[in-house]
Amino acid sequence: MSADANLKTLRILMIASEADPLVKVGGLGDVAGSLPQALRALPAEKIGGFTLDVRLAIPFHSVIRQKLPSPLPVASFSVPTPAGEIPGQVYLTRIGNTPVYLIEGAPIPPDAPVYNTTNPQQDAEKYLFFSLACLEAMRALNWQPDILHANDWHTALAVYQLHNIRQRDPFFKHTRSLLAIHNLPFLGGSAEKTLPAFGFQPSQDKRLPDWARSFPLPLGLSVADHIVAVSPNYAREILTPAFGCGLQDFLRTRINSISGILNGLDQTLWDPANDTLIDHRFSLATLSDRVQNKLALQEQLELPRDPNIPLLIAIGRMDQQKGMDIAIEGLQMVTDQPWQMVFLGTGDPLLESACRSLQAEFPDRVRAVIRFDLALSHRMYASGDILLMPSRYEPCGLAQMIAMRYGCIPVARDTGGLHDTIQDTRQPNQNTGFLFKDPLPSSFSVALLRALALYHNHSAWNALQIRCMQQDFSWTQSAIAYANIYFKLMEETQ
Ligand code: GLC
Repeated sequence: MSADANLKTLRILMIASEADPLVKVGGLGDVAGSLPQALRALPAEKIGGFTLDVRLAIPFHSVIRQKLPSPLPVASFSVPTPAGEIPGQVYLTRIGNTPVYLIEGAPIPPDAPVYNTTNPQQDAEKYLFFSLACLEAMRALNWQPDILHANDWHTALAVYQLHNIRQRDPFFKHTRSLLAIHNLPFLGGSAEKTLPAFGFQPSQDKRLPDWARSFPLPLGLSVADHIVAVSPNYAREILTPAFGCGLQDFLRTRINSISGILNGLDQTLWDPANDTLIDHRFSLATLSDRVQNKLALQEQLELPRDPNIPLLIAIGRMDQQKGMDIAIEGLQMVTDQPWQMVFLGTGDPLLESACRSLQAEFPDRVRAVIRFDLALSHRMYASGDILLMPSRYEPCGLAQMIAMRYGCIPVARDTGGLHDTIQDTRQPNQNTGFLFKDPLPSSFSVALLRALALYHNHSAWNALQIRCMQQDFSWTQSAIAYANIYFKLMEETQ
């Protein structure tokens, strides 16, 4: 803040492994793509007369190279390591009005996937290099961030390195750090053996369990000036043995520096009234048109064309976290009810094949679309009656917010951000979905049966859809909450 004190500009460097629309694998990409813009858009009067100069740095991944064959080179830097310096380049592009620095260097291979599940060593080198490169790139650009806002294990070591150097490094002396947790179980353990090659020693911090002292995320969490979990409920859950991944006792020592801030939704990108990817656009005033989308989807997927059969959908990564196996088993418990089901997503081959088997067993009810298909996901949100989200854990979750905005009602596990975004109370006229406690097919099926029963009560269902569509999931409040943390951190440096 020092250099720009009169202009009242706060400089924020956000760093992440992915950012939509340049590169997106999961929900982190949505947040890193949209939060910087939401922060930049905050009116100065809402944040004490400040403007936020938010910039983003991401690795220059192979998928971005295909989209941007000749980006603008803006700086060269090198990362010191015990074996010598590793040179790197910074290129500049934009997401909306946010400047985005693309970081290049030998450990970020030009043809590598964003996350290499078969070669974790490659990810370890890539993200360790990237973490250090972000700091060196800012030095080369002579752009001194007031706040370093890192996300998940991939960038946690930038926070750690900042803490280690800022005492004796005038360039970063005033930079404060925030580390956001989007997915705690991914601690970056595969990078443990790579740390010494980048000059890192195991932490001596006695609050950390022994095993965690050379894992990137715990290292970052041990020194971050502030920690944010992506929903208030997840911020509480990570302090418990069930969700703390063995770090709960350590995290409790940091409780005064942990906040929960719900992710927002890009409400212009996801807007049923202006969505060009769906067949029939609709709003609250034209909700009765919505069913046309369902008929079109049934036709496209060759399911029996019937407006009165409840259409269930599930969209997203197929992994243990998302609990698709719970849904598959639970659905088999309610086959006496009429319903159709469409799965969309890719991931764990076992879960993919379980979806396919369900389709083989119920060919006139189930479709398993095993691919990434953004356009189809829009059509599904616009036509599905019920979204299934039986997550084992869910730090925030985006699909439930999109679904609600499109009048599709969630049946979800009562955990993480699902708890914060879905109301299922004793006051039916306030509810916005159906929650269940235990990650078990039997609990899931009870919640699904409640939803299916209400579905046939047209006026109650219609009222539920309207309540869901009226929810405000915009970024504004959450962006203000982040800004307030930045300001608090800056005050501490004065
Ligand atoms: C991770 C979490 C998800 C969250 C997203 C963005 O993908 O699993 O719950 O919404 O990050 O924060």
